[in-house]
Amino acid sequence: MSVTTERLASGISTTPRKMLVGGVWADALDGAVLETLDPATEEVLTTVPLGGTADVDRAVRAARAAFEPGSPWRRLSPSQRGRLIHRLGDLVLEHAEELALTESRDNGKPVAYAALADIPMAADLFHYMSGWTTKIEGNTIPFSAAPPGSFLSYTTREPIGVVGQIIPWNFPLMMAAWKLAPALAAGCTVVLKPAEQTPLSALRLGELIQEAGFPDGVVNIVTGDGATGAALVAHPDVDKVAFTGSTEVGKEIVRASAGNLKKLTLELGGKSPNIVYADADLPRAVAASAGAIFFNQGESCMAGSRLYVQRPVLDQVVEGLVAEMNRLVVGVGADPATQLGPLVSREQLDRVRGYLTSGVRDGAVPHTGGQSLPATGYFAPPTIFTGAEPGMRIVDEEIFGPVLVVLPFDGLEDVVAVERANPYGLAAGVFTRDVGKAFRTADAMRAGTVFVNTWNALDAALPFGGYKQSGWGREMGHAVLENYLETKTVIADLS
Ligand code: NAI
Ligand code: MG
Repeated sequence: MSVTTERLASGISTTPRKMLVGGVWADALDGAVLETLDPATEEVLTTVPLGGTADVDRAVRAARAAFEPGSPWRRLSPSQRGRLIHRLGDLVLEHAEELALTESRDNGKPVAYAALADIPMAADLFHYMSGWTTKIEGNTIPFSAAPPGSFLSYTTREPIGVVGQIIPWNFPLMMAAWKLAPALAAGCTVVLKPAEQTPLSALRLGELIQEAGFPDGVVNIVTGDGATGAALVAHPDVDKVAFTGSTEVGKEIVRASAGNLKKLTLELGGKSPNIVYADADLPRAVAASAGAIFFNQGESCMAGSRLYVQRPVLDQVVEGLVAEMNRLVVGVGADPATQLGPLVSREQLDRVRGYLTSGVRDGAVPHTGGQSLPATGYFAPPTIFTGAEPGMRIVDEEIFGPVLVVLPFDGLEDVVAVERANPYGLAAGVFTRDVGKAFRTADAMRAGTVFVNTWNALDAALPFGGYKQSGWGREMGHAVLENYLETKTVIADLS
């Protein structure tokens, strides 16, 4: 595949895609394919290979060969490795427009947001991580069990080996970059499995990886579904798996990785509390809280989906949020004016509709966006529920759609009491003008990220990940490198 005029003319080429195994673009060994749809039109965009166990095995072998001592990848100096990763970040930026459109067509998300958030952040991940290659250091550590000077003991940090990376459909390219950049910075080789709903941007990234000059087999991209992912998790020659997706599958992966005790990192779901105190700058709190739930159609692990509002300002905040919701431009993601696109799939739409029905059945009051939804496409009505209570599914469970529940509260202790039962701990937010209250609240939250007077603010340099059942380990920042490195201790008797 190459950049064809066809691709540039239509935004997306309809040529059936292949997957990247050992530097070769390949079909599945048994020829199986899966279709990827445009969720705004429900039309098939193209097909990608449906990788089976044999394809996964081939990709793992390629990654292993690329990891062997003396391979072209292992012979690169840290500085050379960093330059390749940096070049990849540059290539992502050079193709930003095309990648944003690919993301929008394959996932449904607004192209304007993909161009503003997904693509620059993906590039940033490569740029940030590229600088770490030359700064992965061990220590010289004194040895106390022998006379001074008679022993030399030190540590080195080594890449963990062949890594399986399984990513979801909500931020397809960004998730690929979150996963690939640190693995490559650490010197690992990778088999990446994009989500079946959104494989296209990762495959395009594969072309850019080749263009950047990475040796064959360093990054392999196997497209497929859950069974493809499961084959990667079960493979005995994979040293580590990094997964982002549902909590349910995360738990399955924990069980399935027991065979060779591969190392795991998991970035799972969330039901993140967002706390608005009466003394907050309310227009700002309302705008940010609307963004916290409606950005990316609510298909975000860190969506601020459970909004606590201090009682004196409850009506005012709800009114403001409903107004924000009604202002959202709902439509086809590829239209630059769109702010809320369709959900990724019929399955996800059915799931979200199920929650809307259950909320009403449980007695909560829905306030639904006034927009008329397009007749085709997987559009869900943006919705704010009041009168909801813990114990209702809409309050307790991750919805992963543009659906907010509002809960009134009197003091922080009320929030803490409800949050104790929250199985998740990915993000939390607080809006107040009182600095002390802001930090007391941040301190009380059992969450990997706490936003103060903002939301959706992430950075490649800042660790991100979950407490409780939101996952294991941290992504981004230098913290993520730990997941891709082993420590070797060398103890030498100098006598
Ligand atoms: P999922 O967890 O099934 O899919 C995520 C990835 O895991 C995909 O690449 C999929 O092919 C792969 N996968 C599925 N089963 C697997 C298995 N047994 N072994 C290895 N890999 C496997 O998520 P799904 O079904 O697309 O969405 C369900 C719910 O999960 C959503 O409604 C949402 O609540 C949550 N979710 C959370 C995400 C996050 O960012 N934390 C992202 C996507 C979904
Ligand atoms: Mg698609």
